Amino acid sequence: MKLLLGLALLASSGFAAQPAARIKIDTDRRIGEVNPLLFGNFAEHLGRVIYGGIYEEGSKLADRDGYRLDVLKATQELGVSVLRWPGGNFVSGYNWKDGIGPKDLRPARPDYAWGGIETNRFGTDEFLKYCERVKTEPYICINAGLGSIEDARNWVEYTNGSKKTYWAELRRKNGREQPYGVKYWGLGNELDGPWQMGHKNAEDYAKFALEAGKAMRWIDPSIKLIASGSSNFGPNADWIGWNRTVLAATKNIIDYLSLHTYIGNRENDFERFLANGQNVDHYIEVTEGLIKAAQSGQENPRPIYIAYDEWNVWYRARGGAAGAPVGLEEVYNYEDSLAMGMFFNSFFRHANIVKMANLAQLVNGIAPIFTNKDGMFLQPIYFPIAEYSKQGGNVAIDTLVTAPTYKVGARKPVNYLDVSTTFDQKTGTLFVNVLNRSQKDAITARVENVVGQIGGELQVWEMNHSDLKAVHTFGDDRKVRPVSKVVTVGVSGNGFEYTFPKASLTVLRVKVR
Ligand code: AHR
Repeated sequence: MKLLLGLALLASSGFAAQPAARIKIDTDRRIGEVNPLLFGNFAEHLGRVIYGGIYEEGSKLADRDGYRLDVLKATQELGVSVLRWPGGNFVSGYNWKDGIGPKDLRPARPDYAWGGIETNRFGTDEFLKYCERVKTEPYICINAGLGSIEDARNWVEYTNGSKKTYWAELRRKNGREQPYGVKYWGLGNELDGPWQMGHKNAEDYAKFALEAGKAMRWIDPSIKLIASGSSNFGPNADWIGWNRTVLAATKNIIDYLSLHTYIGNRENDFERFLANGQNVDHYIEVTEGLIKAAQSGQENPRPIYIAYDEWNVWYRARGGAAGAPVGLEEVYNYEDSLAMGMFFNSFFRHANIVKMANLAQLVNGIAPIFTNKDGMFLQPIYFPIAEYSKQGGNVAIDTLVTAPTYKVGARKPVNYLDVSTTFDQKTGTLFVNVLNRSQKDAITARVENVVGQIGGELQVWEMNHSDLKAVHTFGDDRKVRPVSKVVTVGVSGNGFEYTFPKASLTVLRVKVR
């Protein structure tokens, strides 16, 4: 008896093994809706993204319109909710009028952004019909580099015009009676970058964006406008100043400001690579502050959100397949797939302000789907994206995480566990998304909910592989794949304990009772 009492005292006095981490969820603390547009992609005229990817005339794998059916199916299964087109750097030299009308009469032009020749056989109608086939929202980015405001305005009239006007009639003549109703329009791409054709300073860009947006809205007042925010976070770039200037000029007309981020593991340092989430959080939080500052003093400001309309891992590939001068044909490995969870966790934690995101890109060039003329395979990054997209429409929940930390350089310590939580109110299901960035250790966490009990049966989705550098190729794309399983855990109080394997990504689904 004495011994039992002694053991009980020991346990209550803290000698019992405590989990190393705590994930404390409060379903009353709601950040915002996980907007379905967070699961967008990008398809630029670049290497084999369009030609040989989405579209391959004459291929045995394509339909009569030239769309690759294997790619179309993989795109639908990825859950792509919005598709940005036609660039990217490409759009800053693109004349959209080259890409309409009879294909054989369309002019071939040099592609000054990426090299090679643009045949223009895939243009506005081909893109918009593709979006209808996929059942995804089209998002067209205008040419704010070498292009004109008039061209941008006419593009909206061509796609959305319902009256008997010149450009709308030309669309009809080209075979499309009904307007396409394109809702999302980007006001140019990365104009802050010296690499951009028609690169501008912030003042010049802001003036162009305001005037182009005005002219486009006069054609269709219902369109949503995305201004080109900063993409240039280099040491000599004033990315905050750029965003401040653009917001000041366009705050009464735009709906989104864009951000772009690419990360890489050049130092071959896994934990450092996955600490990049700190930067993503920082860019979002600073930009949110700039939006608030621009709107300060307005009683009822126009809502402005962040569109993270280019993001991915990209640091290895420049060259492409034989014949393609530049293809960015990055071969993704297992550790890159974990970075997908890192980006989405950051977007979910900021679901009040990040309302659109587009993985760059979709096929072949820095992409989850990879083709040759005989088939395709899915890169390891495909699977987390497809899984996270199931959380669109959930509510993101503010979550307190305490976990062992590590340091990267002089930055503040970073938690080994990178976490986001979302809640599906219809089914009462919590989704707990956990990236364990420790290369060496599994980490046990107590997962608890302040409002309602959780535990018992968990649906577990897990990416976990012993080789961080494992990759897929044609005929061998099954080794880096997730597993799904049901795990029963004991409930204690309002939570349970779960051990997250080292270097892994886990989504736990659990009902709240
Ligand atoms: O996605 C590849 C390129 O990266 C895009 O064209 C450009 O916007 C960015 O610099």
